Amino acid sequence: MKMPLLLHSLAEFQDLILPALEAVRPRAIVEVGSETGANAKVLVDWAGVHGAVLHSVDPEPADDLVKLAAVTEHLHVVAEYSPEALPGIGPADAYLLDGDHNHSTVTRELDTIDEVCDRFPLVILHDVGWPCGRRDQYYAPDRLPADRVHPHSWDEGVTPDNPGTVRGGFRGEGAFAAARHEGGPANGVLTAVEDFRERRPGLAYHQVPSVFGLGILYPEDAHFAGAVRDLFDPYDRHPLLERLERNRLELYLRVIALQDEMAGRVGQQDRMVAGYEAALAALNVENTDLRLRLAGGHAGRTG
Ligand SMILES: C[S@@+](CC[C@H](N)C(=O)[O-])C[C@H]1O[C@@H](n2cnc3c(N)ncnc32)[C@H](O)[C@@H]1O
Repeated sequence: MKMPLLLHSLAEFQDLILPALEAVRPRAIVEVGSETGANAKVLVDWAGVHGAVLHSVDPEPADDLVKLAAVTEHLHVVAEYSPEALPGIGPADAYLLDGDHNHSTVTRELDTIDEVCDRFPLVILHDVGWPCGRRDQYYAPDRLPADRVHPHSWDEGVTPDNPGTVRGGFRGEGAFAAARHEGGPANGVLTAVEDFRERRPGLAYHQVPSVFGLGILYPEDAHFAGAVRDLFDPYDRHPLLERLERNRLELYLRVIALQDEMAGRVGQQDRMVAGYEAALAALNVENTDLRLRLAGGHAGRTG
């Protein structure tokens, strides 16, 4: 498959996530947020080989995924938002949270998982790094309690080291909004994880600082704790990965800026062409008018 310009799927972490699943040996896996199904397909393949079931939660599941669910018992598509879907699915052994990247939703997801599971499972969270780690993003802010939603923008974007929003920058272009301010209480996915760990002791946490950041949360005394720790420890907040991620984001922001500049220039050229066309049309009208008047005068002289 062709590599996207900006790597962004959880599927990029499959070399770590699948060995972690091998250690957990889940019967039931839940992925919140499937988008194109890129990562869900990796998980369904794994589930097929290991006799597990993937519950894929997304209010707008991709057609491909719905079709796949019709032909395999290893995939169950739940076309709902996570807060409503998770209690109905019941307990699972591994969760991948990659839906609405904000403090309110992630808090609700973690609290629900803790309630429905007898033993806290393996929970993998995407987008614990920049930009969502300390800044809420909203796919559907109207669905959240109003007092849990920060002022946000659908049009403006974000850039590293700027806690506000800017014209241009990294943005959702109508798909999602960004909180107008980064940081502070109850803001962002990583803040939600930290707040949850304060309320719920006994959980280990690792963070792989690549492809928007991967968080791994699990009980310190789980049967798989040693294996998962050995897997993720070498990557945990590794400075080289942090530098590479920063570099990748800055390069991508340069691409966005160039695209915006090109779009501006194209717009300017389009406006100039429209101006020339309007002037040409006016000249044509004038020309026709002159011809008619000339023809009329000529006819008058000879008639
Ligand atoms: C970043 S994409 C998921 C990418 C996917 N996990 C992957 O790695 O390939 C986020 C998805 O979450 C979905 N979404 C938004 N809010 C959600 C919610 N509350 N519950 C479940 N899915 C949600 C969106 O429709 C979108 O498809």
